[in-house]
Amino acid sequence: MPAHDPTDPTLVRARQRLIVALDVPDARAALAAARELDGHVGMLKIGLQLFVAEGPAVVRAIREAHPALEIFLDLKLHDIPNTMRGAIRSARELGVRFLTVHAGSGTDHLRACVEEAQGALDILAVTVLTSQDEAACREAGHTRAPQELVAMRAACARDAGCAGVVCSGQEVARVHEVAPSLFKVVPGIRPAGSAADDQRRVMTPARAITSHATHLVLGRPIMRAEDRPGAADAIVREIAGAL
Ligand code: C5P
Repeated sequence: MPAHDPTDPTLVRARQRLIVALDVPDARAALAAARELDGHVGMLKIGLQLFVAEGPAVVRAIREAHPALEIFLDLKLHDIPNTMRGAIRSARELGVRFLTVHAGSGTDHLRACVEEAQGALDILAVTVLTSQDEAACREAGHTRAPQELVAMRAACARDAGCAGVVCSGQEVARVHEVAPSLFKVVPGIRPAGSAADDQRRVMTPARAITSHATHLVLGRPIMRAEDRPGAADAIVREIAGAL
């Protein structure tokens, strides 16, 4: 059965868990990808490259042309609560599903974000960037290992009422222990046999799902595929098999 069969409930659930990173330079490329992927994935992630280039207009354009595709606005906001509130107020009007903020400033900052979102969008807390290893954490003044920091920040996100966290596949099982009810959004996913690119610690879709990831973020394995819908369908089937 093709993964885009709209009637199979397991495939529908699996598709909702697949997020594609639109790491493209402009709206034209973003809209072309959205056209190809509509009906094959649940959500598109718009990151800093595209948002800085095109602004909120690209979010509105995709929402209008492809209302079934949810938008994950990955801006990783980090500022004083008043400024965070202002940014979130602006984002509320865009019709996005997820917005990321950094978890490093603690529960009160996160609580302000959740409050300002007013349920119009879900706040995801970024725990520790996967580019930060133990040495980088030490250099930044942290006395805890990255895994411990991840667990502490997941607890902050839970206490602040965030909808979920972004964490690596290596940490998702630990995050699930601390915050079982939160969404766990996991990048660095690679189907078995595909190139790791610059990701150091990769995990297959099935393994991430059985480790309690609720959503998977994939960029290059889908965006660089000759057949993007086909690549997405294969991953949806793998997710469905692990649900
Ligand atoms: O192409 P690839 O699948 O590696 O893309 C992964 C996406 O997830 C990129 O947009 C990347 O910026 C993002 N990401 C990540 N690791 C994190 C957080 C976000 O790879 N810890």
